[in-house]
Amino acid sequence: MNIFNSLGSNYNLSFVFKSLFTIGTKQDKTALETFLNEKYGGKTILLYKGRQAIEIALKLLNLPKESSVAINGFTCFAVYQAITNAGLTADYIDIEKGDLNFSSDQLKKKIKENPNIKVVIIQNTLGYPADVKDLAAICKENNIILIEDLAHSVGGKFGDFVILSFSQDKLIDAISGGALIIRNKKYTKTDVITQKDSIKDRFYPLFTFIIRKTYSIGLGKIIQKILKIFDLLSKPMDNNTEPNTVAPWYCSLIKEAFDNLDNNLDHRKKIAAIYASNIDPKNLSSKITKNIPNSTNLRFPIFVENRINLINFLKRQNIFVSDIWYDAPIAPKKYMPQTNYTNQCPNAEKVSEIILNLPTHRNVSEQDAMKISQLINQWIQL
Ligand SMILES: Cc1ncc(COP(=O)(O)O)c(C=O)c1O
Repeated sequence: MNIFNSLGSNYNLSFVFKSLFTIGTKQDKTALETFLNEKYGGKTILLYKGRQAIEIALKLLNLPKESSVAINGFTCFAVYQAITNAGLTADYIDIEKGDLNFSSDQLKKKIKENPNIKVVIIQNTLGYPADVKDLAAICKENNIILIEDLAHSVGGKFGDFVILSFSQDKLIDAISGGALIIRNKKYTKTDVITQKDSIKDRFYPLFTFIIRKTYSIGLGKIIQKILKIFDLLSKPMDNNTEPNTVAPWYCSLIKEAFDNLDNNLDHRKKIAAIYASNIDPKNLSSKITKNIPNSTNLRFPIFVENRINLINFLKRQNIFVSDIWYDAPIAPKKYMPQTNYTNQCPNAEKVSEIILNLPTHRNVSEQDAMKISQLINQWIQL
């Protein structure tokens, strides 16, 4: 068993060849746009990254510059950066205890506190759903724009805008890619964007496949280091975010992943259910495990003190889970100093210290999930 949370987690050998040799046509791009227009009921703009979709949506709103955008206080730096790129200010809503998202009560309180909030971004962290119906109603009452960030999930029936990410380790993983779906007809005007085609993305599935296969004999780590030194490994947090669209070959991979979405979700649900029913319940959140049937289960969260110890224990069994969503209220942790965060979210701070994500992707079998659960219980009892 050689299992990774990230590092090309979603790819098999067939995907490696597809990413290397798919050409894609203009028709693939148009077909994907038409598919997304229908699926999400709006106008689709295909982009190179999900974060660009957030930035463009905010720019389209043409808001006064003192406006604030309320976001989950447990999120990705890419979300924060999109807001500042649009010239606006991020305000944080802490997550509910035992949950990974903020609640309707927390949103109401925040709106009272900060009358400059003109936009709310909700995300269903790791796929576990926020209370979108109630949150949408509150936004409507208060004349606030709602953005549904579906980087971890599916859905998208309530927002004025829907954001999709097709980047590394996401549910629909085409190495890179994103989309903005404009559902509110007031905002359908957009400018032309240039095309992005990354040669590094083409090779990312191949390189990570080789690294993963040779990791346990020590070679993978060396190959990874060399590729990093020469900057040949595509990075999820590459901060070159000039808005641009994706080349057609990505669109063909994205559409195929959507065609396979039901299988993908079924698999993740099964794996999450194995973790939930086998790992010691004191390290789980019952609110989260109850939501497995309604979640995409992108990753399965457990909560442990002394997390690094468990990471190292699992590493000795060739299970690599050190990539954590999220290791800080605005993650990755190393970007925190670049944000305006000032300890507004104590629940998120606590969770970010103790959360560990278990993989649910296609390269984890039901037997693997069982084995991982047993190993974790063994570690808990040490
Ligand atoms: C909640 C959330 N939204 C947006 C993004 C950005 O997606 P992308 O990497 O496609 O820009 C991420 C990144 O992981 C994320 O976690």
